[in-house]
Amino acid sequence: MSTRKILVTSALPYANGAIHLGHMMEAIQTDIWVRLQNLLGHDCVYVCADDAHGTAIMLSAQRQGITPQQLIDTVNADHQKDYAGFHIRFDNFYSTHTLENRKLSESIYKTIDENGHIAKRHIKQLFDPEKGLFLADRYISGTCPKCKAADQYGDNCESCGSTYGPAELINPRSTISGATPIEKESEHFFFKLPEFKDMLRTWTRSGTLQEPVANKLSEWLDDELQEWDISRDAPYFGFEIPDAPGKYFYVWLDAPIGYMASFQNLCERSNYNFDEYWKVGGDTELFHFIGKDIINFHTLFWPAMLTSAGYRTPTAVYAHGFLTVDGTKMSKSRGTFINAKTYLKHLNPEYLRYYLAAKLSSGVDDLDLNLEDFSLRVNSDLVGKVVNIASRCAGFITKGFDGQLSSELDNPLLLAEMQTAKKEITDHYQGREYGKAIRLIMSLADKANQYINDKQPWVIAKENKQSEELQQICSTGINCFRLLIIYLKPVLPEMAAQAEEFLDISELSWDDLDSLLLGHEIKKFKPLMTRVEADKVLAMVSETQAEFEASQIDIKPPTDPQANDSSVPFEPEIDFEDFAKVDLRIAEITDATHVEGAEKLLKLTLDLGKDLQGETITRTVFSGIKAAYDPASLKGKLTVVVANLKPRKMKFGLSEGMVLAAGPGGKDIWLLEPHEGAKPGMRVA
Ligand code: MSP
Ligand code: ZN
Repeated sequence: MSTRKILVTSALPYANGAIHLGHMMEAIQTDIWVRLQNLLGHDCVYVCADDAHGTAIMLSAQRQGITPQQLIDTVNADHQKDYAGFHIRFDNFYSTHTLENRKLSESIYKTIDENGHIAKRHIKQLFDPEKGLFLADRYISGTCPKCKAADQYGDNCESCGSTYGPAELINPRSTISGATPIEKESEHFFFKLPEFKDMLRTWTRSGTLQEPVANKLSEWLDDELQEWDISRDAPYFGFEIPDAPGKYFYVWLDAPIGYMASFQNLCERSNYNFDEYWKVGGDTELFHFIGKDIINFHTLFWPAMLTSAGYRTPTAVYAHGFLTVDGTKMSKSRGTFINAKTYLKHLNPEYLRYYLAAKLSSGVDDLDLNLEDFSLRVNSDLVGKVVNIASRCAGFITKGFDGQLSSELDNPLLLAEMQTAKKEITDHYQGREYGKAIRLIMSLADKANQYINDKQPWVIAKENKQSEELQQICSTGINCFRLLIIYLKPVLPEMAAQAEEFLDISELSWDDLDSLLLGHEIKKFKPLMTRVEADKVLAMVSETQAEFEASQIDIKPPTDPQANDSSVPFEPEIDFEDFAKVDLRIAEITDATHVEGAEKLLKLTLDLGKDLQGETITRTVFSGIKAAYDPASLKGKLTVVVANLKPRKMKFGLSEGMVLAAGPGGKDIWLLEPHEGAKPGMRVA
């Protein structure tokens, strides 16, 4: 077998949010495949990066009062930690906001332009006059022109399902500033995708894609292809287009180039050679693992761009479906995103690696993380079957034979059968049919357990702890265990490492499937994996719910409710001018009610004094102080509010300000008692 040189990527996660289990499923799928290649002796490199550009990241940094660079640096460190927590073994995890990516993006763009594949023309778009920003569809909301449902997004109505252009919305609003958008014209740059129709027809049909993906694409390729808008106007966080001041590359132009940049960065500090992997006609392979939502970018724009720029195209692009949790889509607005970090606080990462592997196929179907099934499956397969084999045999070897395995086995046929499965299991892994691989591996584990049941070593041991038969039976069991561990090693690298320690052997590779462990001394057995505990799963779920609610309320709870104030980290310093912009007023709470479905929120009606016409100014504010107060006791109390905070749409309605209260959060939050001198509407200096 000749050594293959393979470069593999997972899609680059956006740098403005945490890694959640959906991202992690993709990384796990990819990591298993990469580990398999390396166990087989191939040279397989795995790179990824943060996707650091775009309007969302720019706005997110603004909201947090930090620079985009600060935001993406913090997030990058955070992402790397999460991936490492799940044993994702990147050779490099980089960022798209780097010198390598700027250079590559500029040079690729220049070549594409020189080849005549860039068109320039003026287009009209909605523009936020207050923010001075062109608005993508998702930043515009308004009333549906068809069914008149309120608060619908720029391009389609969630209520009646109709699609339209953002200019057709009734009463359109910028979701960023609340301003009414205007139409404005500007020059945009387009990539002439239609010129690559023939190339794409051939490429998508050359075994590069999964069958259903190729079929879908060929429908599109039969229709007319549109030119692709690759420029965005300032302000934008990204790379400025060469010789086009104020114009930036659209984030999706430089994002896939980020794969190249991450690899190039690796080349700078290793023996890998950039050109060997990216030139046309080399003998290296390139694979992209992606979610089904970003297929177009990877199978139309990307191969066309690469072709125009004179680089190789991917060997294959593998799309997967979406992860759901207990049958529902993970959603920001429902708070059902389980963050990688939250999972790791409660559960062993290898539980999830195993569960997902057991359910993954090569298709694009969605995959459900059913939390009850998750516990049952992991407990019955890994703890009940695999680890059990070792724990049933190891003790007798340690006690009766000083840890020495026999040099002849009781049942060589059983082991031969396990070894024969190598080809089929390898093929399943190679074809990303992990579920099939796992099923086969578990059927072998069943056979091994059945064998031990039949032989009943504990009965023999009762009579003679040192009988040769006992040693040979248990050595057969331990060898079954060793083979199963090799088969599971791409999925369970940590458990495999512990097994190697227990067996006192060097790192197992795929070749070791052809040999057995005879006349060898093993160490004392320690449990390699403990059962999934139901309360830990529940704790993860309720923490996810709490994170969601905290993100919906005004007051940021400290991470540890027991902690004293000084342990809550300070936000970055602000100038006095920034502080002076905050209009603090005394307000009287005239009404306070529970909010149905919210664990922490109260709905407060506030009296902010009188306006110039003598009318009472009232505001509705949602505040996370339910734990501290019974609503009835709040009426008549005074509080300090930020009176000029932009209204925020929250899950339960519009919040028109923010109530300030002191205290560590939870039950201990203090409002002001009414007392002489303070009157609603007074400014707080
Ligand atoms: N930044 C782009 C990718 C650029 S690649 C040159 C992006 N980022 S993302 O953070 O939204 O998604 C990253 C990957 O995670 C994508 O492949 C996406 O399909 C995948 N997933 C996001 N949510 C997912 C699930 N719920 N389930 C499975 N995969 C999911 O798109
Ligand atoms: Zn509608």
